[in-house]
Amino acid sequence: MTSIDPAFATFLVGLPKAELHVHIEGTLEPETIFRLAARNGVALAYESVEALRAAYAFTDLQSFLDIYYAGASVLLTAEDFADMGRAYLARAAADGVIRAEIFFDPQTHTARGVAMATVIEGLTRALDEARAGGMSCDLILCFLRHLSEEDAFATLRAALPFRDAFIGVGLDSSEVGHPPEKFARVFAEARALGLHVVAHAGEEGPPDYIVQALDLLGAERIDHGVRCLEDADLVARLARERVPLTVCPFSNVKLRVCDRLEDHPLRRMLEAGLAVTINSDDPAYFGGQIGANYVQTCAALGLDRAAAARIARTSLEASFVDAATKAGFLARLDAHLAATAGA
Ligand code: HPA
Ligand code: ZN
Repeated sequence: MTSIDPAFATFLVGLPKAELHVHIEGTLEPETIFRLAARNGVALAYESVEALRAAYAFTDLQSFLDIYYAGASVLLTAEDFADMGRAYLARAAADGVIRAEIFFDPQTHTARGVAMATVIEGLTRALDEARAGGMSCDLILCFLRHLSEEDAFATLRAALPFRDAFIGVGLDSSEVGHPPEKFARVFAEARALGLHVVAHAGEEGPPDYIVQALDLLGAERIDHGVRCLEDADLVARLARERVPLTVCPFSNVKLRVCDRLEDHPLRRMLEAGLAVTINSDDPAYFGGQIGANYVQTCAALGLDRAAAARIARTSLEASFVDAATKAGFLARLDAHLAATAGA
């Protein structure tokens, strides 16, 4: 691994930043999975924390998702969801996150008989506490793309009594074979409700899925999007339209989208003029939170303070907040840069 200057690491972790691509279910640490399993009397297929952790040797997205959904099975009560949210938000704040837009997968829970109200009320409890402590945060409801359009419609309707508890919708789970077009009508309904739209595309799926997410879903940001580099016209469009890409370097290495951090396309994406951000995706499974993603990715790719500051700035600019709030975020970033200049 590339050696890292401690002062540079401190600078990167302290950079005021937004996390725009984190699945709350992917923040459940193995110790928490075991604690909640015991609290709720849920049987796990693994004997110990160590055995569970040892199973985190993924070969692709699906091999991860199978374990990720199993881990989420310990979540039953609103307090479970609140505990998970609180733990993530505390860690994020310690990594310089001043704005978090957090994905949750309601179908993973409603399919097990957990009510939509339980999921949303629990998560909202944690977010409200974090807001009281000065964090800016919101939820984005994700549809599982391996399930049907009908199931997605039912999920959106079940969430409508809680319309004020989330700001947008997204699309995640097994990508290949489940193109964005499958959900065009669901996303049209979400847009009509005034919800923001994001979608995972171009992680394992082809560049055309990114085009579909933009043109058929109305996506305002693309989650991952790394495979855009295979299509020069698409890269030009994403750069021209400044479509934010929520890139997750540790995730891409763990799920074998690329071999090593040193080979990650993030640097090439920046050089192509793309609006790149750095995010953790599923930090409990992929070896580190957003701060570690910044530190190790910048070290591995030789990105300097200016490049990292640009990435953090892009993350704040790409967040779904009003103009005055955004200006306040950018002022905090500028103050941090001024205070650390020459340090
Ligand atoms: N891709 C698709 N679905 C997911 C991911 C991801 O990286 N993480 C959690 N669900
Ligand atoms: Zn993701």
